[in-house]
Amino acid sequence: MFKKTADIKTVRVDEKLKHIAFIMDGNGRWAKNKGLPREAGHKYGALKFQEVIKYCSEIGLKAVTVYAFSTENWKRPENEVKSLMNLFESYIDDCISKVADYNVKIKFIGDMSCFKDSFGDKITRLEEMTANNELILNVAINYGGRAELAAAFNKLIAEGKTNVTEKDISEAIYTAGCPDPDMIVRTGGDLRISNFLLWQSAYAELYFTDTLWPDMSPEVINEAIDNFYKRKRRYGGL
Ligand code: FPP
Repeated sequence: MFKKTADIKTVRVDEKLKHIAFIMDGNGRWAKNKGLPREAGHKYGALKFQEVIKYCSEIGLKAVTVYAFSTENWKRPENEVKSLMNLFESYIDDCISKVADYNVKIKFIGDMSCFKDSFGDKITRLEEMTANNELILNVAINYGGRAELAAAFNKLIAEGKTNVTEKDISEAIYTAGCPDPDMIVRTGGDLRISNFLLWQSAYAELYFTDTLWPDMSPEVINEAIDNFYKRKRRYGGL
């Protein structure tokens, strides 16, 4: 599946590329192409997600963010939503049971207020158990970029802040303390951001690939990284 072979060039990233965020798109089409139900695409996508995280850790990234479930994804058929929630929960259970081998500092970003049940408790438990690990992994669930900003502004208002600064906002959003993504990689061929990391993506390089998420591979990640290092980031300067 995601094997390292002698043909795959091993890349190492440096301080210019600390954080990659992935929009994991194309699970449904991948399944359809194979005559499988959409749920099978998500299942395979979840396995691929774990392999991608492992590879990102091997090449020296400091942070990875994945878009796993948006605030708009609740509109999908009940069965599909259920199967995605089951996948998230079994991933969490698996991580909790193997936490000693798990060198990832996991954080779930999004509006977690609707998960006030055993699922929500497991999320909190896993975040606490991994808080001292190295690679930051933000998993966006029930996430929307606009909702994140609205929540941040409301938080600042509740704190009595007036004359809000950019720093205040960066410290009030879900990813506070994590460096902004240097690159956003979207699989599945669509050329849009889909309400993902609206504040954090201000200077991110965008990379789009037609590869469907379940077909993601080290080669595609390496291509994105090669492409990143060929770009000149000017941040508005010359
Ligand atoms: C978009 O593809 C993908 C999703 C809405 C779900 C992404 C979730 C995973 C990859 C599983 C992650 C698992 C864990 C444990 C974090 P789509 O269904 O919109 O595909 P399509 O555009 O081909 O229909």
